[in-house]
Parts: sequence; C-alpha cells; structure tokens
Amino acid sequence: MAAIDQGTTSTRAMIFDHKGRVVSVEQLEHEQIFPRAGWVEHDAAEIWRNTRRVGAAALASAELTAKDIVACGLTNQRETTVIWDRSTGKPVHNAIVWQDTRTDDLCTELAGDIGMDRYRDRTGLPLSTYFAGPKARWLLDSVDGLRERAEKGEVCFGTMDSWMAWNMTGGVDGGQHVTDVTNASRTMLMDLRTQQWDGEICAEMGIPMAMLPEIRSSSGDFGALRGNGPLPGVPLAGILGDQQAATFGQACLEPGEAKNTYGTGNFLLLNTGTEPVFSEHGLLTTVCYRIGEQPARYALEGSIAVTGSLIQWLRDNLGLISQASDVERLAAGVDDNGGAYFVPAFSGLFAPRWRSDARGVIVGLTRFVDKGHIARAALEASAFQTREVIEAMQADSGVELSTLKVDGGMVVNELLMQFQADILDVPVVRPVVNETTALGAAYAAGLAVGFWEGEDDIRANWAEDKRWEPGMDADERDRLYTGWNRAVEHSFGLT
Ligand code: G3P
Repeated sequence: MAAIDQGTTSTRAMIFDHKGRVVSVEQLEHEQIFPRAGWVEHDAAEIWRNTRRVGAAALASAELTAKDIVACGLTNQRETTVIWDRSTGKPVHNAIVWQDTRTDDLCTELAGDIGMDRYRDRTGLPLSTYFAGPKARWLLDSVDGLRERAEKGEVCFGTMDSWMAWNMTGGVDGGQHVTDVTNASRTMLMDLRTQQWDGEICAEMGIPMAMLPEIRSSSGDFGALRGNGPLPGVPLAGILGDQQAATFGQACLEPGEAKNTYGTGNFLLLNTGTEPVFSEHGLLTTVCYRIGEQPARYALEGSIAVTGSLIQWLRDNLGLISQASDVERLAAGVDDNGGAYFVPAFSGLFAPRWRSDARGVIVGLTRFVDKGHIARAALEASAFQTREVIEAMQADSGVELSTLKVDGGMVVNELLMQFQADILDVPVVRPVVNETTALGAAYAAGLAVGFWEGEDDIRANWAEDKRWEPGMDADERDRLYTGWNRAVEHSFGLT
C-alpha cells in the first residue's frame, strides 16, 4: 500500500505492508517563499514535480514496481490554497500557505458587526487567516481577470489535496477535480452537517461555485493514477487532511480518543463520534474522517501554528543550530529555561486564543540566559501550547485525558517528551510506527480496496513504542505554567 504525504515543508512517498510497517520512504523538501512579513507561499508546480520523483524513488528503493502496489492514499497540509487553469494545468499564482496572515483585514471585514464566529455554527471554524476560503477570495481579488475566469469555470480552486489528486489522475488529460470531506471542512465554505458547499457562505465570501471541487468521502474510488504520475495504474483510493490522517493512523477510532502531532505546528484532535461538538473554548470542529458510505466522524481540534517550525527558525534564521536535531543537545546543556519564555506567535496565535494581533516574543532575559536556555524555551513552548489546547479540550468535552498519544517529527526529542508529560501531569505515549499521517492515508485507501477489512485491523496494528511518565512536582509545574501565561500576554497587540 502506498501513500503520498504532501506536507508543509516536504513531500514524501511511503510504502507500507499489511501490518502497517514501513517498507520504504523517500522525501523531498520544497522552497518556503516569504514575499513579505507574514506571507508564506509554495510553488505548487515544484511540489507536483517532487511528488513524481519521490513516488518513483520509493518504488525503486524497495525494488518494487507499480504493479506490486494495491492502492495509494493521499494526505496533505491542509488549508493551503491553489488556483490553477483547467486547460493548461498551470497555477495562476503561488499557493498561499496555511500559515500566511495576508487575509487578516479581509477576515475582520467579513466578521463585520456579527463577529469572528459568524460562520462557526455551520463550518465549525472562527474567521481566521488560517482557512482556505478567504485565501481564495484574496487570489480572486488580486490576480488580474481571475474572477471572470472563475465564473466561467476556466480555473479550479483547491486545497493541496485537490491539486495533487487532479494531477495524479491525469491533469489536463481528464484529471479528477475532487476533495474529501476532511479537507473541505478546512475551507470555511462547507456545511459540516450536510458535507456540501454552503452557497450562502460562498456568495458572501465572493467565491464562484463553478471553481469548487466535488466533495467525496475520505475512502473510495478517486480514479487510477495516470502514466505521468508517481505510481502509474495504481488506484487512488483515499484522501485525508494530514491531521485527520494521523488521527486515523493512531487508531483514534472511538469517541474520546485523541492524538497530538508535533510537526511544523502541533495539532491535537479528539474523536467526538458521529455528531459535531461545537467548542466554547477556542477549538475547531472539523470532520475527522468518512469511510465509504458510513456516517462521517467528527473531531474537536486544537491547532497550534508554530512548534517544529520554531526549531527550523532557530536553525535557518538565527543559525543557533546546524540541524534541527541539535536542539535537544543544546537544550540539555542547561538545567532549565533560566527564566526565559519564547512565545512563537509568528502567524498570530491559533487555538485556543485566536489572536491575529500577536507576534513572537522572548521574555525573561537576563545576562545569565544563553543559547541553551533559548533552545530550551523554544522546546518548552510546544509543551505549554499543548497544555493550553488540552485544557480547552477537557473544558469542551468533559473528558479527562488519561494518556496523550503523540507522533510527528519532534517526538524523537526525549527532553521535549519528558517535559510534555511533566507539564501535563499525564503520561505521553509514542507508537512503534510514528509515520501515522501517511499510514492513516494508506489505511483509508486500503479499506476502500479491501486490503484491510475493517477498523479492527487498524487497531491490531497499533503498538506502543515508548512511554514518558510525569515526574515534576505540582509547585514547579504551576510556577512554569504561570510564567508561560505571563509571557503570552506580552505577545498581544504587536501588529
Ligand atoms: O493545518 C495545517 C496542517 O495540516 C499542516 O501540517 O504536518 O504539514 O505541518 P504539517
């Protein structure tokens, strides 16, 4: 079973066996384009070129051919928005990435007198720069002649899954213009209950419906991958946004089960079952997955914009470390944060605070603080932000977390995982297969074609690798968390 994981910093192709173990993995990074402060773009054509290369490489390194692959799943960075020409297949502009804040004024304008929760009861989301609909509106307003072409149906709108699926299934030669319910639920244009585009919201946001993809279940027949794609002839049979895919790959299949992924940002999803639960504490309501014709499952989500990307920033913008993994050694060289707190509000603050006026700050500096303390404060920021989200989730759901299932690039960092357990006072658990995002997409595809029979196969494949038990005393935990909350106050009103 194959999966393509089109993430914020890289695109990877993976092959899994029936037990959900990794057979091969290949990955290519793409350029992060920062045209001005607060703007983040990707070249969608570069991402598609990378996809073909990693797909071919993953087959070659496992000494397999496309004939050995039963089906392919697709998972992706969510919300990142691309518009392309139906007849040439060329994007009309760089993709606008989920972290981009250029739609801040537009969101305030859309909120009007009604407020940022104007669409929450239908979409589960507050008005925020994070979501795709306002990004599409910005493109329609900013690219010459685009609105007219969109109204005539000459261009396609998509989040990255749509762009990838269209190219994978043939592009200008019959590509399928589709999305799945999980990705559509991040546009702010879909009604969560009907799982259809909401015509009224589209009209108010100024999005012509002729440019929208068809919304499908997360697991089903999306068409065969064409000759110019990464896995010629293989059926594309599953599509899920990456955080929903990780939830599925972590076997969080029952209401009350949750996972936290430590990637570019952190994303904590709690499965709430077949009914959407609307948050009163700053969380998002989103579609978790929909398998075939079964009812959709929903999730409460706490999205944190900057966690792993803060470590990249220490590497790329400050040169504090030469590779991301060095941060652990640097942070372990000091006993504690030395009184320093780092609030990485580079894209404002997402859940649970939703402050677009926040910007990054480091507070508590003295002559004593050195680069080890800064590294430590950067790691601790991920854990503090996770605690905020978990507190909101417990307040919304009434469910007390007994353990936290984790995955993603940063969970190899022992110091961070121990601190996470300490600051939550809850054990943190990492599975054997940490590649839960790609695995979740592979599961969705594998269920569609009968490679796996049902959810019991997914549960049976999940196994614990490592567990961190909390060991911090309560006074110390409170002291640190109070320090964090005071630091966050300093990040407000900086735009
Ligand atoms: O909502 C954004 C999220 O999907 C990005 O995930 O793993 O690419 O940072 P990741």
